[in-house]
Amino acid sequence: MLTSRLSLTLGVFCSSSVVLGGLVQKPHLVLPPGSQQNRDAVVDIFTTSYEAYRTYAYGHDNLLPISRKFSDVRNGWGASIVDAMSTMHIMGLNDFFSEAVQFASNIDFNKSRTADTVSVFETTIRYLGGLLSAYELSGQQFPALLSKAKEVADKMAFAWVAGNDIPYGHLNFSTNTPSHSQSNIAEAGTLTMEWATLTKYTRNDTYRELSERSARRIASQKSSHHHASSGLPAQGIDPATGTPSGGYVTWGGGSDSYFEYLIKYARLNDAADPMFVDAWRAAVDSSIHTLLKTSKIGDLVYLADYDASKSIRHVGSHLACFHGGNWLFGGRLLDNDTIVDIGLQLVDACWNTYASTETGIGPETFAYTSSESDGFYTGGAPPTAKQLAFNAEHGFYITAGSYILRPEVLESNFYAWRVTGDRKYIDRAASAVKSFNRFLSVNNTFAGLYDVNSSSSLKIDDTESFWFAEVLKYLYLTFDDPSHVSLDEYVFNTEAHPFKLSPPKRIYGSHSSSPTKPLS
Ligand SMILES: *[C@@H]1O[C@H](CO)[C@@H](O)[C@H](O)[C@H]1NC(C)=O
Ligand SMILES: *[C@@H]1O[C@H](CO)[C@@H](O)[C@H](O)[C@H]1NC(C)=O
Ligand SMILES: *[C@@H]1O[C@H](CO)[C@@H](O)[C@H](O)[C@H]1NC(C)=O
Ligand SMILES: *[C@@H]1O[C@H](CO)[C@@H](O)[C@H](O)[C@H]1NC(C)=O
Ligand SMILES: *[C@@H]1O[C@H](CO)[C@@H](O)[C@H](O)[C@H]1NC(C)=O
Ligand SMILES: *[C@@H]1O[C@H](CO)[C@@H](O)[C@H](O)[C@H]1NC(C)=O
Repeated sequence: MLTSRLSLTLGVFCSSSVVLGGLVQKPHLVLPPGSQQNRDAVVDIFTTSYEAYRTYAYGHDNLLPISRKFSDVRNGWGASIVDAMSTMHIMGLNDFFSEAVQFASNIDFNKSRTADTVSVFETTIRYLGGLLSAYELSGQQFPALLSKAKEVADKMAFAWVAGNDIPYGHLNFSTNTPSHSQSNIAEAGTLTMEWATLTKYTRNDTYRELSERSARRIASQKSSHHHASSGLPAQGIDPATGTPSGGYVTWGGGSDSYFEYLIKYARLNDAADPMFVDAWRAAVDSSIHTLLKTSKIGDLVYLADYDASKSIRHVGSHLACFHGGNWLFGGRLLDNDTIVDIGLQLVDACWNTYASTETGIGPETFAYTSSESDGFYTGGAPPTAKQLAFNAEHGFYITAGSYILRPEVLESNFYAWRVTGDRKYIDRAASAVKSFNRFLSVNNTFAGLYDVNSSSSLKIDDTESFWFAEVLKYLYLTFDDPSHVSLDEYVFNTEAHPFKLSPPKRIYGSHSSSPTKPLS
């Protein structure tokens, strides 16, 4: 009995310490000269944008920067304020932060302020994630932030109907009943970091258990296509039955952050359960065999999509461009140079979508041609002569040319800098700051573009909260002291809200208590 207990403990200990042993950041990173000016420029962009939000949209979800109005697309609880809080704290914008804490402490999450249903995914990553990260970053001195996190999660818990593994994606907060019959693996599989953190502070294990149950159910799906893609679950999922719907496989929207959270959640809970690491490793391995494609022009490395008719679609997206950073993060944790090297190639190909346009900013979606026989297939319209010419020059072509203030390319660029210390990533971030000031600046604020390949593009009249939460935070941290919010001390949720790692539980024999369980 004693022997088997001992070997079990030893087994857990070994898999844990071997599994996530690596340092993510390169040690002794030194910022190049000029970083202070770049950092100040990013703070200026944040302050200018946020002042415009305060003037024209305060308390609402989004600023409409051109018409100088507001919109409520996240149930009217003030999404931009809650989503911006961790960035304000990191930038040291104390007046904004105090004002935001006051505001957030008084949100009424018991009912939506709009006629919409509530998205469990969006509410988790922006509101729950924003509140918990601000609570942590400010040294737990504002208990109201935790109470509000608990309040909104207690409402969202109604999405797990009748003991189902998979939560419904949307709820009517007036009746606490679900409203959409279909969900996807991003919605259902991007909850663990926030809900387990709520468990850590409330000591109510139900939150962790609900979110893990959903992620485990997805990880147990085996794609029916063929062996090489067995680590890649389909995008659609039916909450009523927990079974996959359709067979579309992608690292892009609808699936993206499910993959992202497998390794990030493993990191956050110190790999207490190896299932999460194993599922991430299997997804990456299947992706290398099935989805990894090299463009005919420029030898650029992309992750393609795989559709229900078993065809490879040679498409990419701004959303999917988080993958390079995620592979760098996981590759370093696993000490696996194969994964790190591919991660760096993915980062380069995504940056190329920025470097190739008139504005120096990348498009929403794109396609490319690989050297295989079906290498032109995208599942969409064949390229026009103009797109072919662009492809011949740049190794990809634009299929939707808007920029809606998304973060993923600069997010992965931030990881590449912190992991390698190569200054080319600093230069890329600096070039993005210049492009933002030159092409997004309008009416004393900033706005997205309808056409990134036109220096005179019309601007989009909407400022998503992830501009404050993600784009400007990742840019700022790229130019900041690398020991500030180190990737060896924090894990970012998919909305760029950092969560602090617990000190690793590496002491022999003490591993049986899971770090995510409440301390007693
Ligand atoms: C600036 O805002 C005003 C007032 O809403 C608007 O009429 C004008 O079109 C905006 N300017 C630009 C360049 O969009
Ligand atoms: C929301 O509902 C809960 C449970 O009924 C209650 O404790 C809380 O005070 C309510 N919050 C607000 C802001 O009304
Ligand atoms: C939510 O439920 C209430 C009460 O039944 C109903 O009036 C409202 O239309 C529902 N909202 C949505 C978006 O379905
Ligand atoms: C823990 O949270 C769940 C989900 O909101 C709730 O149903 C349950 O009553 C809570 N348990 C305790 C002991 O507060
Ligand atoms: C590193 O990852 C690759 C790709 O998944 C895999 O083939 C290889 O076995 C891994 N190397 C080690 C040492 O685990
Ligand atoms: C992008 O802009 C360049 C320079 O104006 C132009 O030559 C090219 O045709 C444009 N490409 C597309 C696909 O619009």
